[in-house]
Formats: sequence, structure tokens, C-alpha cells
Amino acid sequence: MLDTLRSVLRFRRFELDSTKRRLAAAANTDDLRRLAKRRLPAGVFDYIDGGAEDEVAMRANRDAFGRYEFSPRVLRDVSTVDTATTLLGAPVPLPLVLAPTGYTRIADPAGELAVARAAQRAGVPYTLATMATRSIEEVAAASGDGRRWFQVYVWRDRALVRDMVERAATAGYEALVITVDTANLGRRERDVRRGFTLPPKLGLDTILDGIAHPGWTWRFARAEPILFANVATSKVGGSQYDGSRPIALAEKVSSQFDPALSWADIEWFRSIWQGAIVLKGVQSVADARLAVEHGVEAIALSNHGGRQLDSAPAILELVAPVADEVGGRIEIICDGGVRRGSDIVKALALGANACMAGRAYLYGLGAAGELGVDRVLEWLLDELRRTMALIGATTIGEINADHVRRRPA
Ligand code: FNR
Repeated sequence: MLDTLRSVLRFRRFELDSTKRRLAAAANTDDLRRLAKRRLPAGVFDYIDGGAEDEVAMRANRDAFGRYEFSPRVLRDVSTVDTATTLLGAPVPLPLVLAPTGYTRIADPAGELAVARAAQRAGVPYTLATMATRSIEEVAAASGDGRRWFQVYVWRDRALVRDMVERAATAGYEALVITVDTANLGRRERDVRRGFTLPPKLGLDTILDGIAHPGWTWRFARAEPILFANVATSKVGGSQYDGSRPIALAEKVSSQFDPALSWADIEWFRSIWQGAIVLKGVQSVADARLAVEHGVEAIALSNHGGRQLDSAPAILELVAPVADEVGGRIEIICDGGVRRGSDIVKALALGANACMAGRAYLYGLGAAGELGVDRVLEWLLDELRRTMALIGATTIGEINADHVRRRPA
């Protein structure tokens, strides 16, 4: 009997490293989301996971992927599948960009540096956020020869914005991602309910939350203080942006969002930036057309992952109409709800050139630090390759509208 058992059973080696053990039990980004939920204090998890108001736009982003199914072709010799393409004129191993996410060190102390290193290993561009907790220069050093983009908000203090843009140029960032869906900050009601602020303010509930997640609290307490590193290290404005007082700094920063934002600002950016410009937050065909007229290199169709305007359009549904109007004249990137390689294939089939992913890598970071981000990027590539093989496309260029259709009601 023992022989019979031995013939069908193999023992898994026990993994001593707890991070690797956690990762071994995960098969997809949803698993990492669940792990991150267990590992992070509730306020921190909800800051990452949540959206604006009723979270309609956030859910709609995800639901839209479920409304499309593939129309696969078979017998197409898919023995070699090439996922490589180009983005803003340079090669990428897969059509993916890591989206900017502010305050990344809240998920793990290695924060933006970990994500930038993982992106470099995977060969995909990493977009550093204005609201980052590591500076433009620190991230440039960590990402080495990796492709890096810099996201800017059009703030009231244009001298500060200009300073950051110039620093990004000096530090080898190749594209400026101008986020245009934040004339006001969206109201994230999970944060309101929990009294969650950046940086977190201590109250009885945050203290209890911290005690319930001692691993996170220990790592957070041992790390250097978290602040808006790009603002704190700016030479412009002198002591106005004092990095030694994170809460005052955060208040100053949140008063910076400029409701006067207009197309003239895009022209101003063109006058101070030589590289490519990506307009992030476009949500209509009319604005996509205007983006072409203003000569930007790419648009990122995005509703900020459902964190700004609630009931904003589901991003995947915008791809085909926008591609019909401006495809070929401007690169189309889209984000919101991308969790799998198959999501990327659907977006490409509808006319996008690439996708951005935000929460997917944050779940990885929250669940297992830098290794978690590596794992998410490996899965996305692997799923992309497998989906391409199963629909009968051997190159990115072969993916087209015939490969997807709306799921019959
Ligand atoms: C964001 N996003 C964002 N966008 C931006 O332009 N500047 C920023 O500082 C941030 N910060 C930020 C923080 C967190 C925690 C999240 C989840 C998102 C939006 C981000 O770039 C992207 O548009 C969305 O994350 C895409 O949706 P998914 O992939 O998260 O579903």
C-alpha cells in the first residue's frame, strides 16, 4: 500500500521563507488582493482597494471585461508567440505600463523603489507619481536602465511643477504623464468612514488596526518617515514644502489641485518638456480628438481606477469608439480593472496599444513586497502569452477586432 501511495504522491518541499510560502499559495492577482487584505491594516487596504463615492465606476471598469468574450481561431501554429511591441517608439516585451500610484510606501516600506526594480526586471515602463513617497532621483537610481515615466498633476504652484518636470528630464524620465481627471479630488468614502488620511493620523481605531496587523506596524514604524518625497526635496518654495512636517506638508499638497486646469496648460507643458506627453484621464471621444489636435503622443483612457468621478464610463467600453476616431494618429493606452493578461488582449483587440495597471501591482506589493510585484508581472506576461496562443494570435499586431465579441445577453 505504501508503494501505491508513493507512486502517486510527491511531497512538496516545505518553504522556510514566509513570503515565498505565501506566494506559493497564490495563483492570480485576486489571491494577492485577499492576502494583502489580511496583511494590511483595514484603513491602508481600503485606501488602495477603494474608489469614489458608490464605487460604481470602479466596479464598471472590472465588469466591462466580463462583457466581452474571445472568438478564438484554431490550427494556427502558435508554437512561437511573441508578446513584444513598441510603446512611444521604443520596444517593450509586453504592452503594459505600471500606472502611477501615490503614497506607495503605505503598502510596503520598499514602496516605489521595489516597484521600479520589478518593472525594470520585467522590461515595462514604470510611472512615478508626483505624490510618490520616494523622490524622482531615488527612483531613477533604483530603476537603472529601466524605462521610467513621470506623472504630474497640474498644480496651482506652477514653479513647483516646473521644478519637478525639469528634475524628471535630468533624471532620464522619457515621458510625462499629465493627469487631467483631478480638477478636484474624488471623495473616497471608505477613507472618510475610517478617518484615513495621508499620512495616517493616529486615533484609537488606527491604533487598534495597527495592533491587529503587527507585521505591517513593525515594518512601518522601523522605516524612515513617509512623506511626499518629490515635494519635500524640491528646492522651489523654500521652507513652504518642509519635509520634516509630513502632516502640514500633506495639507499643503492637497490644496494644490487646480480647478482652473485647461488645454492651455498642456501647451505650457510642451514648452517646458522635450519628451513624449501622455494625457491621462481622457474619458470621451471628443477629448481624444482634442488631444490629437494638441499634438500629444499618447492618451491614457482612464477614470483613475474609479477614484475620481463616480459613474464615469467603464474604460474598456471607450476603447473601440476612441480607436475608431483617433487610432493610428496617437497611441491609446487604457487602464482600470486590468488584472489578467487576457484583459490586456481584450483591450488590444478593441483598439488599444497598451494597458496600464495600478492596483494589480499594489496588491502584489501589499501581499508579498517586491517579490509580489515580480509575481504579478510574471503572471500578466504568462497569461498574455497563453491567451494569444489560445485565440490563435502569434504577434501583438495580429490581435484584432475579430478576436473579441460582446457576450450574448
Ligand atoms: C492611483 N491612481 C493615480 N493616478 C495618478 O495619475 N496619480 C496618482 O497619484 C494616483 N494615485 C493612485 C493611488 C492608488 C492607491 C490607486 C489605486 C490609484 C490611478 C492609477 O494611476 C490608475 O489610473 C488606476 O489605478 C487604474 O485602475 P486599476 O488598475 O487600479 O484598476
